Amino acid sequence: MQGVEKPFSQACENNKRPILQQLERAFASRKHILEIGSGTGQHAVFFAEHLPHLMWQTSDQVQYHGGIHAWLSDTNLANIGAPIEFKVGNDSFPAINADGVFSANTAHIMQKEEAKLLMHLVSQHLPKGGVFCQYGPFTQKGQFNSQSNRDFHFSLLERGYGGYRDIDELIVWAPLLSLKRIVDMPANNYLLVWEKK
Ligand SMILES: C[S@@+](CC[C@H](N)C(=O)[O-])C[C@H]1O[C@@H](n2cnc3c(N)ncnc32)[C@H](O)[C@@H]1O
Repeated sequence: MQGVEKPFSQACENNKRPILQQLERAFASRKHILEIGSGTGQHAVFFAEHLPHLMWQTSDQVQYHGGIHAWLSDTNLANIGAPIEFKVGNDSFPAINADGVFSANTAHIMQKEEAKLLMHLVSQHLPKGGVFCQYGPFTQKGQFNSQSNRDFHFSLLERGYGGYRDIDELIVWAPLLSLKRIVDMPANNYLLVWEKK
C-alpha cells in the first residue's frame, strides 16, 4: 500500500524492550503468534525481528492496515504476516492455528463487551498449552496502581472508550485460561501471561 507514512508511537518505543524480555520466556516454545490490535505495526516488526523462531501475524481494524503495511514494507522479515482485518465484536476470529496470542494496550480501549469477548475468543481458540500475553494497564481488586492511571481511565470513559479492566473480571471471562504470571512492567503497566488449560 503506497502513500501511507509509517505511524510512530513513542509508547511502543519505550515498552518494546521490556516486553521483549518477557516474550522471550513466555513464547520460547511457541511457533505462531496472532497479534490482536497491532496498531502502528512497530511492535510486530520489532518482535518478529528479535524472535525469529516465531511467525508473527498482525491484525487490526482495517483503518490501521495502511500504517502496518508501511512498517512491513520497510523490512525484509519473512516471519511476519500482513494484517488480517479483525475487530473483536465484528469479525470472526482469524483461522490461522495460532498457538500464542499477543495484545498490547487494547483491553482499556475496547468497550467492556468487546474486552469480554476478547477473553472468551482467545480462551476458545488457543490450543491446549497455548499462551496469551496481554500487556497494558489494569486495575487489581478494583485498585488503580497510580494516580495517573486513575486519571487516564476516567479520561477514556469521558471520550467513549471502555476504560480499564480489572484483572479479576478478565479471569472470570476466560475460564479456559490460567493466569500464570502478573509481571510488573515500567510505567505502571502489567504483562499478564495466560495459558490455556
Ligand atoms: C492504544 S492502541 C494500541 C496499539 C498497539 N497494540 C500498541 O501497543 O501500540 C489500541 C488498539 O486497539 C485496537 N482495537 C480497539 N478496539 C478493538 C477491537 N474491538 N478489536 C480489535 N482491536 C481493537 C485499535 O484498533 C488499536 O490498534
